[in-house]
Formats: sequence, structure tokens, C-alpha cells
Amino acid sequence: TSVTAPAALYAPERPNSEGHDLTDPAALATLEAARAPFRRAQWQAKGGSGPTLPVINPADPSDVVGHVNLCTAEDAEKAIAEATPWGASNRAGILNKAADLYESHAAELFALLAREAGKTLPDCEAELREAVDFLRYYAARIDDLQDPALGRVTCISPWNFPLAIFTGQIAAALAAGNAVLAKPAEATPLIAARAVALMHEAGVPTQALRLLPGEGATVGAALTSDPRIDGVAFTGSTATAQAIHRAMAEHLAPEAPLIAETGGLNAMIVDSTALPEQAVKDVVMSAFRSAGQRCSALRCLYVQQDIAPTFLKALFGAMNELSLGNAWPLATDIGPVIDARAQAGIAAHIQQARTEGRILHETEAPAKGTFIAPTAIRVSAITDLAEEVFGPVLHIATFKAQELDHVIDQINATGYGLTFGIHSRIDDRIADVTGRIKAGNLYVNRNQIGAIVGSQPFGGQGLSGTGPKAGGPSYVPRFTRAAQGQVQG
Ligand code: NAD
Ligand code: ALA
Repeated sequence: TSVTAPAALYAPERPNSEGHDLTDPAALATLEAARAPFRRAQWQAKGGSGPTLPVINPADPSDVVGHVNLCTAEDAEKAIAEATPWGASNRAGILNKAADLYESHAAELFALLAREAGKTLPDCEAELREAVDFLRYYAARIDDLQDPALGRVTCISPWNFPLAIFTGQIAAALAAGNAVLAKPAEATPLIAARAVALMHEAGVPTQALRLLPGEGATVGAALTSDPRIDGVAFTGSTATAQAIHRAMAEHLAPEAPLIAETGGLNAMIVDSTALPEQAVKDVVMSAFRSAGQRCSALRCLYVQQDIAPTFLKALFGAMNELSLGNAWPLATDIGPVIDARAQAGIAAHIQQARTEGRILHETEAPAKGTFIAPTAIRVSAITDLAEEVFGPVLHIATFKAQELDHVIDQINATGYGLTFGIHSRIDDRIADVTGRIKAGNLYVNRNQIGAIVGSQPFGGQGLSGTGPKAGGPSYVPRFTRAAQGQVQG
């Protein structure tokens, strides 16, 4: 007789979003047909009394994706006065409904992500799934909350996950019952506007969630230096987090929490026992997927010296196979970087390396649009990097077996601590190295991007963030009064 375990043993507490199977031609054809009407559509983001600006596709300067009407600092002050926390007992139901609406609007959201943020189709898919997972995961935490909401919470997000991170911060703050003042990144207001519209359609009161598109220096500053704000969730660069921390210390109540998720100088070690094909694939994915515009992305690869010639030959061959272009077709591996300013900054970094004779490998990028060709640059150590280079640029150092301790010290010496990867087939070495590296998310014999809500809570330490980890059990409680005065978690 066969023994069947109770279904409950296998049923996940809260299944993650199923998404679309992009390897299934029929599913792909249905998705392509659904997003076709949005290929030339335009969207509007209504803000306040500031100017109205066009939003341009970074891959195609002739493609106007829509217009954003900006807020001013005065609009932000008025919105703070109007913001009203919500005590609705069906908050979980409303957040779950928002997740359903996100899924049923997948084609439109994919079109927006591709055209406003330059996201490839697999990145659109991953981003929508993460946003949906955040909504459902945080909704499921509501019953466990012990403390009341903080009150009025500011959420400030980056452009590189304009749907997932934007939604995650808001969903957690709303789950706890707060009123949310949401300021999206300057580059991606249209996706934010669509997301907020879907959350309102699901039943979130307009007074409990207000979108404030605008500049960080004016609207962002107003939303983090007003004493009526009871807490701030920020994701973006370390420098901006530090500026916000200073503003909060000066103007907000001392107990108002700051959740800051910031940048990283992420390393991977590949030793001579690694499986080369797997390691090459994971390096390419970690360094170049999303055009390297992930906080989790690999910035500095340490390869053991005795395998370096063959390993790097294979890696550079794989880089040559990457297809760059407009983010819309499935065949594109790498889209543009977000704008001309980002492109110029990354290009200057590459040019400096070129001048110093440190380019190990370069590929080619399209002439039109803000593209950067995947590039490998030689460094002697990760500490040669003054800061995160937010694009498809991989720095490579080599090490000898007896230098491993020194490599670990160098990685820890950056002061950042977001992701770390190791490829090795020596179990003791993996345990030893991962035990000593100071990083929030550790990845063994796989790529080091794409944390999954609920199973891999994501967040760093040191200069990479305050915690608690997004997509983990400590996150929503940080938006309640239990969090007042806490710093780490
Ligand atoms: P950024 O710091 O330039 O901007 C982030 C947000 O802060 C934007 O909405 C911006 O308008 C706002 N802002 C700017 N100045 C402000 C101020 N003085 N007061 C208040 N708000 C202000 O970052 P970015 O370029 O949009 O995003 C890329 C950065 O985000 C990278 O450093 C990346 O590593 C980091 N990031 C971290 C995570 C994480 O989870 N740790 C995730 C994604 C991105
Ligand atoms: N959560 C994102 C990742 O893991 C940043 O890549």
C-alpha cells in the first residue's frame, strides 16, 4: 500500500505568485497579444502644482511613455495634513485584492516596466511576481500584529524596482494600518501612478495612500523633515539614506523609525574546485542581468589564480553572447541603463579604467538609447572601488589559495554588507567563508540576485541598510509602535 502524507504538509502557508511561464510558447503568445495594445499607449501621473514633464523610454528617445505632473514641497505639506491612518478590519482582503488586480493587469504593467524603466520581459515577470508576493505576504502578517500603527509613514523608493520595491514598502506600511505618503523615483512615476490606482481600486482609501511624484531634493526632503511624519521607509543610495537620517534626527520625533535599504559592493569568490560552467552562468546572471542595476548585483569577482585563464576565457565568451537592445522583445538579455546621466557616469568609470589599461573585456552596445556594453575591469582588490558602480560593469581580481583570509578581510573592509556569493565544492570552506563574511544575503553555488519573498528575506548590514529584511517576518511589525526607537532587526 502507498502511504500518502497529509496534503497540509506540502501546502505552503502562502504560495508565491505563479506568474507566466515564459518558456511556454502558447503562454508567451497570449502575453504578447495582451501587451500589444500598450506598445504605443501613453500614461499620466497626476501630482500637484508643479510642472508637467514628459517621460521618455530610455531605450528609445523617440518613445514618449507619458507625462508626469510633479508635486511641490507645499503639495507634500498639504498631503501630510490630509493623510489619515486606516483601521479597516479587512486590510488583508484589500491588499490581497490589490495583488489580484496587479496580476490581471500584468500586460499593461509589463508594457510600462519595459518602456518607462527599460526592463526586459524576464525582469518584468520577476518584478510583478515580487510585487504580488509582497502584497500577499504582508497581508498574511496582519493577524500577528500586536501594536497600533505608527501613524503617517513616508515611503521613498528607487527607480530600479519601480513596481516591486515601491509596492513592498507601501504594502507593509498599509498592512500595519498607517497612512502612506509615497514618493516614487523621478525616473519612474508612471508605473507608481498605475500601482497606486490599482491599490485604490482594491479599496485602500485615498486618504490612507497618496502618491507624490516629485524631486528628492524638494518633495522627498519635505516628507522626511516634517514633524508630523511618524516613520520613514527608504530604499536607494547610501548617501541619500544618510541625508534622510540627518533630516529625521533634526526634525522628527526621536522615536520615529527609519528603515533604510541601500547600496552594496557585492563580491563573489570562485575557487579552483568550482564547476566552471555553472559559475560562469551565475557570474553573468549576477553581474549583468537587469543591466547590473540591482543593489544585489555582483560588483567584484575574486577568481582563484590557477583557474583564472580558462575561467575568464569562458566568461568573456558568455559575455559576447548577451543580446542588448530595446527591452520589449523576449530575445533581449540586457536593456538600457536608466538615463543619460547614469550612462555618462558609468561610461566615465569605464574610460578611467581604459586609460589605466585595466579593461579585461568589452562588448558592444547599440548606438541609440542609454546603453552600456557589459564590461570587465581588472582590480587588485574590491577595496579599489570607491563606491557602487550601478551598471553592467564587473570588476575582477585574482587570489592564491593562501590569500583567502586576506580576501575575506578585503570584502568586509568595504563597510557594505548586502549580498555575497561563493562557488566551491569544499563544504568546510563554504561554511568557513560564509561564516566570516558580513553580508545580509549569502548565496552558495548559485547566482546572487533575485531573493524570493517569504523564503529569502532580503536586506543588508553596515552601509547597506538598517534592517529589518524585506519579505521577512520582522518587516511589517517595524511599521507599528513596537518599532519606535529601534534601529536594527
Ligand atoms: P537615490 O538615492 O538617488 O534615490 C532614491 C529615492 O530617494 C528617489 O525617490 C529620490 O527622489 C529620493 N531622494 C533623493 N534625495 C532625497 C532627499 N534629500 N530626501 C529624500 N528623498 C530623496 O537612489 P536611486 O538612484 O533611485 O536608486 C539606486 C540605488 O538604490 C542604488 O544605490 C541601489 O543599490 C539602491 N537600492 C537598494 C536596494 C536594497 O534593497 N538594499 C534595492 C534597490 C536599490
Ligand atoms: N531583491 C532584489 C534581489 O534580490 C534586489 O535581486
